[in-house]
Amino acid sequence: MCGIVGYTGFQDAYEVVINGLRRLEYRGYDSAGIVLEQGTNFDVAKTKGKVEDLVAISKNLIGKSHVGMGHTRWATHGVPSDRNSHPHISNNGKIAIVHNGIIENYDTIKTMLTEKGFVFHSETDTEVLVNLIQYLMDINADIDFPTAVRYALNEVYGAYAITVMHEDFPGVLVVARLGSPLAIGLGNNEYFIASDASPFVEFTKEAVYLEEGHMATISLEHGVDIRNIKDNVKIIPEVQQLKLSLEQIEKGGYEHFMLKEIFEQPKSIHDTLRGRLLVEEGIIKMAGIWDHLERLNQAQKITIIACGTSWHAGLIGEYLIEEFARIPVEVEYASEFRYRNPIITDKDIVIAISQSGETADTMAAIKMAKEKGAFVYGICNVVDSSISRVTDAGSYTHAGPEIGVASTKAFTSQLTVLSLIALKLGKHNGNLSNQEFMRLITELDALPKKVEEVLETTNDIVKDIAKHFIGAQNFLYLGRGYNFPAALEGALKLKEISYIHAEGYPAAEMKHGPIALIDENMPIVIIAPKQGHYDKIVSNVQEIKARKGKIIALVNKGDTQVASVADYVIEFPETSECFSPIIASIPLQLLAYYIAVYRGANVDQPRNLAKSVTVE
Ligand code: F6R
Repeated sequence: MCGIVGYTGFQDAYEVVINGLRRLEYRGYDSAGIVLEQGTNFDVAKTKGKVEDLVAISKNLIGKSHVGMGHTRWATHGVPSDRNSHPHISNNGKIAIVHNGIIENYDTIKTMLTEKGFVFHSETDTEVLVNLIQYLMDINADIDFPTAVRYALNEVYGAYAITVMHEDFPGVLVVARLGSPLAIGLGNNEYFIASDASPFVEFTKEAVYLEEGHMATISLEHGVDIRNIKDNVKIIPEVQQLKLSLEQIEKGGYEHFMLKEIFEQPKSIHDTLRGRLLVEEGIIKMAGIWDHLERLNQAQKITIIACGTSWHAGLIGEYLIEEFARIPVEVEYASEFRYRNPIITDKDIVIAISQSGETADTMAAIKMAKEKGAFVYGICNVVDSSISRVTDAGSYTHAGPEIGVASTKAFTSQLTVLSLIALKLGKHNGNLSNQEFMRLITELDALPKKVEEVLETTNDIVKDIAKHFIGAQNFLYLGRGYNFPAALEGALKLKEISYIHAEGYPAAEMKHGPIALIDENMPIVIIAPKQGHYDKIVSNVQEIKARKGKIIALVNKGDTQVASVADYVIEFPETSECFSPIIASIPLQLLAYYIAVYRGANVDQPRNLAKSVTVE
C-alpha cells in the first residue's frame, strides 16, 4: 500500500526521494508526491498517476534541496486525484505531512477544525491530521513541533506511519508509526526514512525499525531521538544490520519482477530448506518449533489464519498437517476469523501466514487469538515484520524480497515451511514411520531440482499456450485433493494480473454448478498428477470434453490418458501428492504471467492491488 520516503543529509534530496519512491512502487499505488525544504519554504509537486508522472512535473526540483520527503498513495479516503495525493500542507502553509494508513476519527476532528475556521482542500484523513498539528501549535504557544505531532497522535486513532516537516524547523523530520511499518536508515551524516529498507539499502546497511507506538525526531544536528508517543518516554533504538542487497531488489535482466521471482524458485525453496532439512541425519531442525514441539503436538486443534495467496498456502497446510500429524486443522480468512468470535482457548495453536508480515487483518486476528490464550506461530517472509514480532514463535520462509505484487516464490516457500512443520510433527508424535518420513524428506530435498526442471521444460510451452487465451473472458481451474487449493491459487494469479475472471474449484464440484458454464469458449485448467485421485480426474476431463470446453492439462511426464483428451498439455515431474502443488504452481504462475503480458497489463503493479495490505 502507500509508501513513504524521507531524507535529510548532504545528497540531492530530490534524487534520493524519487529513486526511493521507484523502489516502493511494488507496494501498489495510484498517485505520487514530493515536498522539499527550500530555505524557509516548501516546494511541493504531486499528481495522480505513477512516479514517472511525478518526475515529468517536478524536474525543476532537481538539485534544489538536501531535505525532503515523498509518498506513493493507495487511495482510501477520496478518489485518486492530484488534490488527494500526498504531501498535504497545513492551512498556514508551514507543516507538510505524508501518511500511510487510516485515521478513523478524522471526521470528528475535521468538524472541530472546520468550526475553528480551518479549510480543507482534499477528501483525505491525512489533511485533517496535519491541520490538527497546526491547531495544537496555534493554541499552545510553548510547545515545539515534535511535541505538537505527539499531542496530535494522542488525539487520533487508527493506523498510521507518518513523516512530517515544519518550515520553522529546517532539517528536522518527525516520524511515527502505529500499524504501518517505518524504517530509519542511519547513514554517515545522513538519515533516510522509508516504508521498508529498499529505498536506502544502497547507501547504508544500518537501520532502526520504528516500533509500534513510537515516534522519532530526526536531524543531522541531534541524530535520532525516539520516544513513546503516549508518554514521551525516551527509547534506546536497536540498530539492525540489513541483510538486504541491491541485487535482490533489482530486476536482474528480467522484464518483470514477477518473472524473476518465478525463476528464483529453485533457489528460494532451497533457501527455505537450508539448515532445516538434514536428509542424511534424517532430521528436520526448526528453531522456531523445537522449543514448542510439545505444545504444538498437544494442540486440540490448529487454526491457520491468513489472507489471499497465504490463505491458499494455509489450505494446503491443512491437508499436510492432518495427513502427517493427525491434528485437526481449520483454515480461516483472518478478516472473517477476527469478527466472528471463534472458539479459541489456551489449548489451541494458531498459525498465522503472511508474506509481508504486515497484513492488517492478519495482525488483528493474531492479537485476538493471543487475547484468548492461544499460542500463535507465524510464518512470514519479511524479517522483523510486524507479524513476526507479535507472534509467540515462528519460521521465516527466507524466500528473499518479493517485489512483484502477485505472490509467487513466497507462496512456494510457505508450502515448503508447512511441509517441514507437518513432517516434523508427524515424526515426533509417531504418526509417520521412520521409513515414510525418510522417503518424504528425500523428496522434499529434491524439490528445488524438480522446480528447476519444470521451469526449463515448461516456460516456452506455457508461453505458447498463453497466446491462445489473450481474448478469454473467463477461466476455470480444477484440481482435487492437495491440488484443489493449487487450482484456487492458479485462478487468483490469473485474475490479479490479467483481469480475466477466473474461478478455482475442486474438480468433483464441477457438476454441482460450474459445469453449466462450459462451452467451446471456456478454457479449463485441470491439474491432474498421477498421484492423487487420477482416475476421478480422468472422468472429470471427459465430462468437460463432452461439453467442448478447452482443456489445458497439467499432467505428469509420460501421461497419455488425460493428455490424449486435452487441447493443451503441460508436463511436470512426478512427486508425492503432498508436494505436487509446489511443482504445479510453477506453470500456473507462468500461464498467468504470459497471458497478462500479452494483454499488455502492468504485471508487477496490477491495478488496485497492493503488496502489503495495511488497511482492514
Ligand atoms: C496475491 C497476493 C495477496 C496476498 C494477501 C496476503 O498474489 O499476494 O493475495 O497473499 O494480500 O498478504 P500477506 O501474505 O502479505 O499477508
